[in-house]
Amino acid sequence: MNTQPDRIIIFDTTLRDGEQCPGATLNVDEKLLIAKQLARLGVDIIEAGFAVASPGDFEAVNRIAQTVGTADGPTICSLARAVKKDIQTAAEALKPAAKPRIHTFIATSDIHLQYKLKKTRSEVLAITEEMVAYAKSFVDDVEFSPEDAGRSDPEFLYQVLERAIAAGATTVNIPDTVGYTTPAEFGGIIKGIKENVPNIDKAIISVHGHNDLGLAVANFLEAVKNGARQLECTINGIGERAGNAALEELVMALHVRRQYYNPYLGRPVDSEESLTNIDTQQIYKTSRLVSNLTGMLVQPNKAIVGANAFAHESGIHQDGVLKNKLTYEIMDAQLIGLNNNQIVLGKHSGRHAFGARLKELGFELAESELNKAFIKFKEVADKKKEISDWDLEAIVNDEIQQA
Ligand code: KIV
Ligand code: ZN
Repeated sequence: MNTQPDRIIIFDTTLRDGEQCPGATLNVDEKLLIAKQLARLGVDIIEAGFAVASPGDFEAVNRIAQTVGTADGPTICSLARAVKKDIQTAAEALKPAAKPRIHTFIATSDIHLQYKLKKTRSEVLAITEEMVAYAKSFVDDVEFSPEDAGRSDPEFLYQVLERAIAAGATTVNIPDTVGYTTPAEFGGIIKGIKENVPNIDKAIISVHGHNDLGLAVANFLEAVKNGARQLECTINGIGERAGNAALEELVMALHVRRQYYNPYLGRPVDSEESLTNIDTQQIYKTSRLVSNLTGMLVQPNKAIVGANAFAHESGIHQDGVLKNKLTYEIMDAQLIGLNNNQIVLGKHSGRHAFGARLKELGFELAESELNKAFIKFKEVADKKKEISDWDLEAIVNDEIQQA
């Protein structure tokens, strides 16, 4: 296995960690619909659920494994605590998948060991070794996560990871479970792992992070610079508490700034090759599907997929964009599957944007008519937040053409 791929592996956990947030529960059919769309989006791995958690989760993992987990489809994964019953159940649910993965985890921070697990470090080391080897007896592809790695003692973390790799883990995932680390720190954790885990080159380093301080995406990008090659993320960033790292933000950051990230992946700076296998044109559609099925609304100013992400309201910005999009846009809306940028007309809009929209609506006005219409438009805009195309038609019809 190539543990240093020159593409970033996208591991989607919308259906496992993403669904694990208040109100986002999905039924099996809904999960299947999302899994099919994730496959179209081009994610490399779908974490389809936590098979032992409930009969519904088992069925979802099993049906996704059967339907979406074909030889040319994504790897299908189930989460399992480092407990035999969880691992057996995950293996059973994953049977129909052409490329099954078991993802097993145990906490490694002292706070979790003392209060949650009530286990010593040496007990955790022994369980890691035993349970990774047990998972390996069912599937070749085993991922291991030391939960709360972000707050774990680095020396202990290195020992746990070495044991997991020796027992057969092919991916070691580093979770910032409580979203506590900062980008420089998280990058440093990955660097420390690369330098201090003797057999780290036998596994892919993955990262998983929550957004409690709004830093998950920034942390991941720093991790990529230090050797992480798999990113665990969710659509729209949904997930436990403040959510997980958002897939669309990571993918577009790696795409828009590919020249910056290329050298970290061993490529020439000017390479135009994509850094992920994601079909970015499917991003918007996937975001809408997940939002509609989970009922988790996307905030309007959300990066990439928010309603305002490609909208320009101020007159200066609208004027610039109409002259050349590059003035205020760092990516084309079409890249994520939207038709166009949206010029929202409101009280800050200028004459140029106003005239351009009227043209799109089929009105060819003389200069004096345009001036008159623009004065009326400003009056209406002072009373309304946004001016619709109907408002514009009314302004032109009532104020100009009937004058
Ligand atoms: O946040 C976390 O630590 C997790 C693990 C199970 C990977 O979701
Ligand atoms: Zn998580």
